[in-house]
Amino acid sequence: MDEITKNRIYENIAAPLYEWYEAAARDLPWRKDREPYHVWLSEIMLQQTRVEAVRAYYLRFLESLPTLASLTEADGGILLKLWQGLGYYNRARNLQKCAKMLVQEYDGRFPEDYEALLRLPGVGEYTAGAIASICFDKPTPAVDGNVLRVIARLMNDSRCVDDAAVKREVRERLARVYPQGKCGEFTQALMELGACVCVPNGAPKCHACPLGTLCLAFANGTQADLPVKAKKSPRKIEELTVFVFAHEGAIALQKREEKGVLHGLPELPNVKGHLDESQAIAAARGLEVEVAGIEKCIHRKHVFTHIEWHMRCYFVRAEACSGPFAWADSEALAKKYALPTAFQKLLDGIVV
Ligand code: ADE
Ligand code: SF4
Repeated sequence: MDEITKNRIYENIAAPLYEWYEAAARDLPWRKDREPYHVWLSEIMLQQTRVEAVRAYYLRFLESLPTLASLTEADGGILLKLWQGLGYYNRARNLQKCAKMLVQEYDGRFPEDYEALLRLPGVGEYTAGAIASICFDKPTPAVDGNVLRVIARLMNDSRCVDDAAVKREVRERLARVYPQGKCGEFTQALMELGACVCVPNGAPKCHACPLGTLCLAFANGTQADLPVKAKKSPRKIEELTVFVFAHEGAIALQKREEKGVLHGLPELPNVKGHLDESQAIAAARGLEVEVAGIEKCIHRKHVFTHIEWHMRCYFVRAEACSGPFAWADSEALAKKYALPTAFQKLLDGIVV
């Protein structure tokens, strides 16, 4: 596309988008103020999951850790518990690292400068752009999948949005058209449009779109073909046998090793491969659990970004709380252990 058309579209996004956002913005808890701690936390959580799911996590997190200072002092287990179910637990660990660095090096305040924000643990281009624009009114775009989709459609651009050069171009061009005094609104309005109007699955609502008259995909009928994404490499499948060892209302947990997927988190005991019943009993004995009986066996799948676990799970009545495990009752499971969703789903509906 020629440069003049491209510039014309970019230059005409901000005004109608702002007007629309003023009327249409959802009432979200992290939009009540511009406190960097709040904006930062919400943006990190929003990289994990949908807005509706984030609401409850966000409110619970701030109830428990209302300030940056309280986050620096939080017990690691509590932090993971607050993150339980969100996934990518390194993000929670990085939150605390970042909070500590802010207290030590920045007097407990977020720097206003994009480059300084980028140097904080766990803060990448997206998050730095969001904080600098929303909290400090800087013209720093926060380009996520939502924004890339909106721009690819507006420009009818069929280049691959996973290409770093495309993302850089979008960031640079958007930066030039940021409306001073309304930078935070512009960042959030772009995301909002991507989330509510220019949606990823199903038909975008072009007839209700404030950018409809500018949009080349709408004009050409190519909305459904855009954005173009890179082919994902197939996920690696791992077979696992997992044990729910239960004894008098408690089940056996252990800690995952400090590397690989879900590292350092609580887990149900497990071994590689799919074991049959007699192999499972032998494996349990190897873990110092005396098997009173196998009660049932279920199969569940859990999908991570690059890996799929195909789990065969044995529910085993144990003779005693033996072996190298922490034995957790339902209260400890609810309050203390951040058992990841992959394992949690094996416990859904069971009473130990
Ligand atoms: N997605 C990412 N950041 C967001 C925000 N601030 N509001 C709504 N959705 C978002
Ligand atoms: Fe997206 Fe349709 Fe709006 Fe274009 S007109 S930006 S495709 S919702």
